[in-house]
Amino acid sequence: MAAESETKKVVSQFELTDHDVNAATLEFLRQMDEGLRKDGTSMSQIPTYVTAVPDGSEKGVYLAVDLGGTNFRVCSVQLNGDSTFNLTYNKVAIPKELMVAKTARELFSFLAMQIEVFLKEHHKDYYAAQIKKRRSGTTRSSEYLRLGFTFSFPVNQLGINKGKLIRWTKGFDIPDAVGKDVCALLQTEIDKLGLPVKVAALVNDTVGTLMARSYTSVGKAKSILGGIFGTGTNGAYIEKLSNIKKPTVGEYDKSTGDMVVNTEWGSFDNQLNVLPTTKWDKILDDASVNPGIQMFEKRVSGMFLGEIVRLATLDLIKNEKVTLFVDANSSFNDLQSITTISRESGLFKQWGLDSSVLSVAAADDTPELSSLRLELETSLQIDSASLVDAQIFKAVAAAVGRRAARLSAVAIGAIVLQSGKLNDPDTDVVDIGVDGSLVEHYPFFRAMIYEALKAIDGIGPKGAERIRIGIAKDGSGVGAALIALVAEKMEKDNSNVEDVEARVDDLVWNTNNHNTFIVAGVVGVIAIAALWWARQRS
Ligand code: BGC
Repeated sequence: MAAESETKKVVSQFELTDHDVNAATLEFLRQMDEGLRKDGTSMSQIPTYVTAVPDGSEKGVYLAVDLGGTNFRVCSVQLNGDSTFNLTYNKVAIPKELMVAKTARELFSFLAMQIEVFLKEHHKDYYAAQIKKRRSGTTRSSEYLRLGFTFSFPVNQLGINKGKLIRWTKGFDIPDAVGKDVCALLQTEIDKLGLPVKVAALVNDTVGTLMARSYTSVGKAKSILGGIFGTGTNGAYIEKLSNIKKPTVGEYDKSTGDMVVNTEWGSFDNQLNVLPTTKWDKILDDASVNPGIQMFEKRVSGMFLGEIVRLATLDLIKNEKVTLFVDANSSFNDLQSITTISRESGLFKQWGLDSSVLSVAAADDTPELSSLRLELETSLQIDSASLVDAQIFKAVAAAVGRRAARLSAVAIGAIVLQSGKLNDPDTDVVDIGVDGSLVEHYPFFRAMIYEALKAIDGIGPKGAERIRIGIAKDGSGVGAALIALVAEKMEKDNSNVEDVEARVDDLVWNTNNHNTFIVAGVVGVIAIAALWWARQRS
């Protein structure tokens, strides 16, 4: 059948063989090493100055904000000092026009306003008291709430609360902000509103994920990598200080011999030495706000997969041999009705196909593909798609999803090899924490990653069995691990908490505890903010 063979032609272009996976893994290791030696490489390998995980004895109330994709989240966390904590949050969608605003001020003043809204809503007594003190000129900055800033874009980190934006990703494009310290940009807008808040720590979401996962890792397995496979993709891993050959500028504690490095693997192989490239990858890249950049991310992450499927599907629609979604005669359609696509369908608009449709396609294994056909109708306004139509769509979507998973295995596999943990007789399990819509919601994404890991030289089926990839979003797990960390820290060091305690006592906790939950990245950044604060005071 022509439709079948034409579909196969498309599908085969997304194939990544075991040989390709191995070649890409070697290149990934090479580019990792290059990034550890010098600046300006395609994988940035950014030193984070985080050399240990927080120990949980920190006490106080911290704010955290999270900017990294479609939403902005403001949270406050009460660390109780016994590793229990309560977390409350507000979430707002970032207006599209602010993602491409003319000035950084427009975006950051919006963020500061959300912090104000949050304080008024959840900490109204504290907020009012602070504003009063401020007016009477009696505010002390030690009373300010400390804020951890999860900023999930490539930043050249210059210290725990200082970092200059290298470039925007994930559809953001505000050239005015590039090269500027994002903490200072936020602090300026916070100060303009007179909020009693100090930006204390700057953290990438992958670092937060690694922190949170290392709390929850069962047994003696220590997490080596925090990875995000969501709107964007990236990973942060524990590297030996001796391997970081390029100059580092910030102050840090060298005693652990390790440092967390933010790889910014979304830009792995921007030069396309090994990355597979179809005509649809090229079209997507050319039409993006950052052509030639984030080439790995553009093949792996949720923001882009739907668009690749859309472009490939459009070609099949145009292909007369296939007659996709256009049967002119209802007798060809098992639904006995004629297929129609609305002109308004997302299929005809850039970014019009949400990657979540891929998850529905992958999950539907019914003989009639009924949920996928319903999804095509509701999400893409394709009425009465025939079974063959849905099969074609499913095949293309699966090929794009599978390539993404196998490429994800390249990044994970390379970092496992770099860690040397598989050859370490003391390591049974190599633990990896992951988060993001793909690993959470795309059916079999992790299974496909494991399948490719088995094919990597130096890992193989035995090695893959020892790699544990777990979601780093388990709130209660994180809380439990924090208890252990806090308890240990409290035995060792009971100092430096007075100011923070004073702040906690001052603060009326206006939150509703039923509304509490934990988010990996957020917990990570809160913990780092707390750690930083304790060190500053010592
Ligand atoms: C950013 C990373 C981030 C990742 C996941 C990428 O686009 O460059 O900094 O960690 O998305 O959110």
